[in-house]
Amino acid sequence: MPHMALHTDSIPAAKPLIGDDERAAVDRVLASGLIAQGPEVAAFEDEFRDLVAGAECVAVNSGTSALHLGLLAAGIGEGDEVIVPSFTFAATANSVALAGATPVFADIEADTFCLAPDAVRAAISPRTAAIMPVHLYGHPADMNALRALADDHGLALFEDAAQAHAAAYDGRPVGSFGTFGAFSFYPTKNMTSGEGGMVTTSDPGLARRVRLLRNQGMERRYENELVGFNARMTDIHAAIGRVQLAKLPAWTATRQANAAFLDANLANVVVPPVRPGATHVYHQYTIRVDRDRDAFVAALATRGVGAGVYYPTPTHRLPSFALDLELPETARAAREVISLPIHPSLSEQDLHTIAEAVNTIAKAGA
Ligand SMILES: Cc1ncc(COP(=O)(O)O)c(C=O)c1O
Repeated sequence: MPHMALHTDSIPAAKPLIGDDERAAVDRVLASGLIAQGPEVAAFEDEFRDLVAGAECVAVNSGTSALHLGLLAAGIGEGDEVIVPSFTFAATANSVALAGATPVFADIEADTFCLAPDAVRAAISPRTAAIMPVHLYGHPADMNALRALADDHGLALFEDAAQAHAAAYDGRPVGSFGTFGAFSFYPTKNMTSGEGGMVTTSDPGLARRVRLLRNQGMERRYENELVGFNARMTDIHAAIGRVQLAKLPAWTATRQANAAFLDANLANVVVPPVRPGATHVYHQYTIRVDRDRDAFVAALATRGVGAGVYYPTPTHRLPSFALDLELPETARAAREVISLPIHPSLSEQDLHTIAEAVNTIAKAGA
């Protein structure tokens, strides 16, 4: 491929928004002298409950820890199978494997990119213990159908909500459907704490076990009840998270408005569908192009539009799992997807630039 010049002022694919309020919050914690897990973490947990219909919240040091500790606290372990999508970030299946269980990969829906209930049904075996959908790109999985399946087969239902802060289905927020939900606060997510994660659950026993697992198995110092981790969040991170949580509603509305603009102005590409009843929070705005995806991304870059491909390789095909399994919709999505910039700091001019670039390249058949 010939060398292509990148615009120096490219529109980035993602942009964490860190402002004076976040800096002031961090300064306040540093000045207090108490920087490990403390009152800021407790306040962050309390405030996050509003986002998940009042469920209990336990903050940890990453979204991966939230999944891992949630699974362990739910009793998932050796001999158990957990049905997950392959078309997601590797942390989804990694957390299952780290819990000692086996991830069983099922295909996604042709439109929403989320776990397909029919594929889940076909993947159920006598060892299946749970179903763990991902609300991919900020679009809720089909929780009604998955709940019905889980109930019919006596399975637990967990939620990987790492990308879906404030997404909802039939008016109910994600993270409040399953036995537990797991959120991530990695910098490119819709809100960040630097690094961090949150377990959400309406089961007080599960919440307590996650609290134990995050802190060496201790509730009271040196009275360790079980073998646990150090997966604590610091007060520095929680202070950033609290400021960001307060800004999330406005940022989400801006992401949705940006998405509405692109929906209305893109031509000759497949724009992301929204299931009736779903509230999409557009962690990613992901289009499909049916040929030459990588050339399309390269052409966007030459026009100053940073785009991402999430995910070019399905999890089950990664060297870490290396399973020879045919998942046709997963394979098609991995070939076709392009995520366009959608973050709240896009200007009106940026949005026009993105639409014009996509439409020009799509028309030229790149
Ligand atoms: C779907 C999904 N699950 C889990 C994670 C893990 O979160 P973290 O990076 O905070 O560990 C991420 C994000 O990175 C993700 O996108």
